[in-house]
Amino acid sequence: MLNGERRIARPLRWAMVGGGRLGQVGYKHRIGALRDNTAFQLVAGAFDIEPERGKDFGVNIGVSEGRCYPDYKTMFASEALREDGIEVVSIATPNGTHYEICKAALEAGLHVICEKPLFFTSEEGENIKALAKKKDKIVGVTYGFSGNQMLLQMRAMIEQGKIGDIRVVDLQYTHGFNSNDKSDKTSDAQKWRIDPKVAGPSFVLGDLSTHTYYMSQLIMPEMKIKRLLCDRQSFIESRAPLEDNAFVMMQYENGAVGRLWTSSINAGCMDGHRIRIVGTNASLEWWDSKPNELRYEVQGESIQTLIRAMPYLDEACMADERLGALHQEGLSESWANIYLKFAIAIDAKNRKDEEALSNLVYPDIDAGIAGIRWIENCVRSADNGAVWVEFEANKELSSTQ
Ligand code: NAI
Repeated sequence: MLNGERRIARPLRWAMVGGGRLGQVGYKHRIGALRDNTAFQLVAGAFDIEPERGKDFGVNIGVSEGRCYPDYKTMFASEALREDGIEVVSIATPNGTHYEICKAALEAGLHVICEKPLFFTSEEGENIKALAKKKDKIVGVTYGFSGNQMLLQMRAMIEQGKIGDIRVVDLQYTHGFNSNDKSDKTSDAQKWRIDPKVAGPSFVLGDLSTHTYYMSQLIMPEMKIKRLLCDRQSFIESRAPLEDNAFVMMQYENGAVGRLWTSSINAGCMDGHRIRIVGTNASLEWWDSKPNELRYEVQGESIQTLIRAMPYLDEACMADERLGALHQEGLSESWANIYLKFAIAIDAKNRKDEEALSNLVYPDIDAGIAGIRWIENCVRSADNGAVWVEFEANKELSSTQ
């Protein structure tokens, strides 16, 4: 149970790049990091591609004017000169900027928390992993839904054999906000998402399904994909070569099969993030529209709905509990749980406590690289005519994933 008491010796001095006034995801980072004033303290930022707007915004959310910087390079250089300079930075900018900012941050001796999809290529991911190792720093990735603790309940139940052997994995992350091309012309956040120079090799596969793929690996760490087939479409033709819809079929090494549907043209859909795992004798199902509930369906018995915060849940799930039973938790708590784990990881790294680090389950650099490889495999299949391809996995998977 979490109640805001400190889990690390003192709050970390934290800055953001991006996530400014008009940014979509910046507030989620602040909700997560600043949920308890014992983990992070926002002391600096280069919040916006437009420096004046960034400064005005920074001051408005309580950052001192002198530490609202015009760009990240100035911020890293200036903060390095201060006794009380920043220790960790979050990167909440469009995809195409992540690599250079992440590299500069590590070279400046900072821990990094970066948005997904982490980079364009797994080679870039391996470069940053090597640099982080050399600098002895953490790189965390904000798969923000993955802090929903009912996912840890799924992980525990699968591990304990409560559904038997996994046969079918059914994943979905879809919405309908891009069913027509209006926002392609009017929304800055949508314009870059369909520009391969900024978004990378995919649209919805990277934007949406990297979350779902990570969550599937979180709850089933033993399940490795052997082969996959991806078929991707651009229903709005001007988005080509980037897809606004994709289907992926998976074959796992243990003989299980899976499918994933990701889409931004699922018109009218408002609750499209779903994970269903079918085992030999039971199934588990979770939707992000009802994150406090987990359906447990045992063949031949009444369907059970497990409810968040109840004492019958696994201790791993209860460890991330905040509000107690009778009250709903949601995306804000999920982000807060992820950010708290980033803080604990950074603190352990600073103390050189590798044992604590290896026991911590959180989205680390390997999870970020795994997301890139997921996209690479899907795109390779789709662009060869939606053919089955052998899954090229992470060279070295983290012990915590
Ligand atoms: P956005 O376009 O809404 O906002 C981008 C922000 O970054 C703006 O404030 C912009 O001024 C700023 N910016 C751009 N370049 C900059 C630079 N060089 N230096 C400083 N600031 C800069 O984009 P959105 O939707 O917020 O996405 C940002 C990232 O977050 C993307 O990688 C996206 O995939 C990811 N994302 C993740 C979500 C999650 O749940 N984890 C949800 C939404 C987006």
